Amino acid sequence: MTAPSFVVAVDGPAASGKGTIAVRLGRMFGLPVLDTGLLYRAVGVLTDRAGGNPDDEAAASDGARGLTAAVLDDPALRTRGAGELASRVAVHPGVRAALLDFQRAFAAQPGGAVLDGRDIGTVICPDAPAKLYVTATPEVRAERRWKQLAGQGETVEYADVLADIRRRDARDGAREAAPMVAARDAELLDTTEMTIDLAADAARRIVEAARARWEASR
Ligand code: DC
Repeated sequence: MTAPSFVVAVDGPAASGKGTIAVRLGRMFGLPVLDTGLLYRAVGVLTDRAGGNPDDEAAASDGARGLTAAVLDDPALRTRGAGELASRVAVHPGVRAALLDFQRAFAAQPGGAVLDGRDIGTVICPDAPAKLYVTATPEVRAERRWKQLAGQGETVEYADVLADIRRRDARDGAREAAPMVAARDAELLDTTEMTIDLAADAARRIVEAARARWEASR
């Protein structure tokens, strides 16, 4: 079956470079971009602000129902704490189900879209014509995230950021609902030794090839 719109799925662990790559791909191919991690971050923060326990599925699902587009602009979603809350609420099938329709509707826009996350190529858009799985070693990802947090004014030890990254990798990869895993048909992009420009260029080539295959099959 031919996919109705040109969807680019960019999955991978925290600080692998997938967010920046997704934004650059959106610009290069003229497609809207959705950072799906932001949805889980918002649910985590809303649950926490309401005094709910993010490990409790009912409380986290209430958080998911309270989600509005305006919340997604809150800078608090970019903090280290929000990343941890996001990973905790993301284990609940009820939370994931509540976010499914929004993500699929975004992907179904005429012309296509780029979505980045953990389960885009496996669960949200399994028929996406272009799939990338972006990785890097935990040490390199921790260094990138540490520099990003420092740039935002968040003072934190590198060792603590590395511990966060390892804990989130373990939780996101081991959960039963839509675990973080490369789709069988995803192209692996290891950015450990790459600058962001090199990584974005490699991603562009992968997506160009996928677009040519997709157009030929229509
Ligand atoms: O991409 P990020 O670091 O902003 O994601 C934060 C957390 O949200 C991540 O640790 C797991 C969860 N997440 C998810 O389960 N599925 C997605 N599609 C995106 C993020």
